[in-house]
Order: sequence, then structure tokens, then C-alpha cells
Amino acid sequence: MRGVFITFEGGEGAGKSTQVRRLALLLESYGLSVTVTREPGGTPLAEAIRGLILTHEAASEDGLTQALLFAAARRDHVLRVIRPALAAGHIVLCDRFADSTRAYQGSKMPEAELEQVIALGTDGLKPDLTFLLDLPPEVGLERARSRFTGVEDTFERSNLGFHREVRRRFLALAEAEPARFVHIDASRDEAHVAETIRSVVRAKFMAGQGDGER
Ligand SMILES: Nc1ncnc2c1ncn2[C@@H]1O[C@H](COP(=O)(O)OP(=O)(O)OP(=O)(O)O)[C@@H](O)[C@H]1O
Ligand SMILES: [Mg+2]
Repeated sequence: MRGVFITFEGGEGAGKSTQVRRLALLLESYGLSVTVTREPGGTPLAEAIRGLILTHEAASEDGLTQALLFAAARRDHVLRVIRPALAAGHIVLCDRFADSTRAYQGSKMPEAELEQVIALGTDGLKPDLTFLLDLPPEVGLERARSRFTGVEDTFERSNLGFHREVRRRFLALAEAEPARFVHIDASRDEAHVAETIRSVVRAKFMAGQGDGER
């Protein structure tokens, strides 16, 4: 299993960070090299841009402004972290990637323009596999609220209608690219979701390597 790029997508509180952590621990227990990272962020510059995006209301108003900031952060992240890790044969687990830009900024700008900006930000890199952790936004927002994160960030403050639109866009992306996406019912309990993810990763990338279970 070499140089595999796996992304986790979905709305707030869907369980992305939880499942990234679980899969990383599991793959590491198999002796595999794993790089865990997240967006927006993953490098000092990209984390600084993340801070700007999450705290400045103004940045959340114009879709293109947001998309450009995410693209700048993503490009730094791809060039400095993701591509080198893949070249070194790591399994890269990324908590959100370009599909989040499509889902969150897609309603705020023309698709062709958005795809242009995304292509520059990703440097043409596409995930080998994307887990869409799907659940009603009410449930995710309630889960996110019950975390001890202090102040809600800009995106979590947006209204429910917007989050429903984000979910609809994620589902449309998954439907359009069935070979890359795996749709996961994220309303199931944490262990059940983890088991589904584990079985997909094994089937797709570890066929014949047998990890001693089942
Ligand atoms: N399957 C699950 N069932 C119930 N609660 C869960 C489940 N998975 C995660 N949680 C809990 O829900 C909260 C949100 O999970 P997590 O932080 O992993 O979501 P996230 O998708 O990373 O959210 P965000 O987009 O805000 O970063 C956490 O408190 C976590 O413990
Ligand atoms: Mg998270």
C-alpha cells in the first residue's frame, strides 16, 4: 500500500476528525506510514490563512474571496505536505479537501470559475478515495455544539438552510463520481462508521495483504 490519498468530507460535526484519527491508529497498527492532515490548514502558512478565514466575517461574504484564500492555503499544503508524503509512500488522510470548497462555495460563484481556482489550489492532485460522512445538518451541528470548542466559528454560525444546501452539494458530488466517493451514513454510531471505513480501505487498497482479522 503506497502513496494513497484519502480525504474525509461532510458537514460540521459529521465525525470526520473522529474517523480520521481512528483510521490513522488502525493503519499505524498495521505498520503502515500514515500522514494525517487537515484543511484549511496543514502548514504554518495554511493554518494562518485558516485563522483568517474562520475569524473574519468579511471573508465569508464573497465566494471567490473565500475560494482564493482556500486555494492559496491548499496549494501550500499540497506542495509542502501532501505531495512529499505521497512520494514517500505514505497513506495521507486529509480532513476536508477540495470537495469542501465545492460544497461550501459552490452556491456563491459560477462553477467554471470555482473549478479553475480549485485546479490551481490542488496543483491537479485528486484523492484516490473520498469518504462522504453524510447526515442531516441539524444532527451534525448539535454534535459540534456539544464539543468544548468555545466560540462557534463563522461557518458554524451560518443558517440551517445553507447547511442543507452544502449537504445537497456533497451528495451531488458523490453521485457524479461514484468511483472516488464512498457515501457513509454518519448518523450511525462511531464504531459502526469506523468499521465501514475500515472494510472499504481494506478492500480497495489492501487486497491480499490480510491483517489477520476475518
Ligand atoms: N458516529 C457518531 N455518533 C455520535 N457522535 C459522534 C459520532 N462521531 C463523532 N461524534 C462526536 O460528534 C462530535 C463531532 O465529531 P467530529 O469533531 O469528529 O466531527 P467533524 O466532522 O470533524 O466536525 P467539524 O466539521 O466541525 O470539524 C464530537 O464530539 C464527536 O465525539
Ligand atoms: Mg473536524
